[in-house]
Amino acid sequence: MKFINTMQITLYQIVQVVLLGIILFYLIYYVYSVLFDKNYQPKAYRAAVKNGEVSDTLRKYEKKYPDKVRFFNFWFQVERLKIDGVQGAFAELGVYKGDSAFLLHQMDKSRIFHLFDTFEGFQSKDLKPETGKAATYTTSNFADTSIEKVKKRLSDPEFVFHQGYFPETTRGLENELFALVSMDADLYNPTKAGLEYFYPRLSPGGVIIVHDYNPDWPGIMKAVDDFAAGIPVPVVPVADVDSSVMIVKPKE
Ligand SMILES: C[S@@+](CC[C@H](N)C(=O)[O-])C[C@H]1O[C@@H](n2cnc3c(N)ncnc32)[C@H](O)[C@@H]1O
Repeated sequence: MKFINTMQITLYQIVQVVLLGIILFYLIYYVYSVLFDKNYQPKAYRAAVKNGEVSDTLRKYEKKYPDKVRFFNFWFQVERLKIDGVQGAFAELGVYKGDSAFLLHQMDKSRIFHLFDTFEGFQSKDLKPETGKAATYTTSNFADTSIEKVKKRLSDPEFVFHQGYFPETTRGLENELFALVSMDADLYNPTKAGLEYFYPRLSPGGVIIVHDYNPDWPGIMKAVDDFAAGIPVPVVPVADVDSSVMIVKPKE
């Protein structure tokens, strides 16, 4: 009896030590990869860091940004626009609290950056026709923001705010040219309106990046597919977590 008890306690202790070991291993691995592991960085980016071309703010953001492929796709596109001398402003449709706008601005601070959002979440007329994940959304989703808060975060003079329902907020910008447009509005109506508005105003070589082109968001897929059928260039998939797609305007 005494022997069995001792065995039981010993086995219990072994299990505890093994579990503790596994937890410690993953903890050390996690801390190490956050602080030191650069394996996910493309060589061109590493070279840019070495040459002092990447700001400390951007490097910090890169480390904590959850979707590394999305981050580096943004970075490569912004670099390409610089190298090719593609003229025009940046824009984002679907800003929310300003995360991706902040990131893109850090990659090129010289561009005027137009920000389109209600800053109060979705409107019912856009939600009504939705299926998929967007059908579970209400006007409360993404409403926990405000233009005042985002203005504090995106306070550089390059940012131009266009608050309200898109595309009604594009008035006065008819002649603006865009080099890069990030579209992240989640729904069919604004995605369709965004493609129709921005594509004709995209500089040759300019790019539209549409987030969430995946089966969770059938409205986005439909808006992109319908639009793609009428333009002479392919829609290029990106291997980021939520499957962005890109449309690059041909050079004249
Ligand atoms: C997924 S969030 C954007 C996330 C953001 N890009 C980020 O970095 O966190 C979608 C945003 O699209 C905005 N939006 C959707 N439809 C809109 C419309 N028709 N007009 C203006 N804003 C719209 C919503 O208000 C919401 O803030």
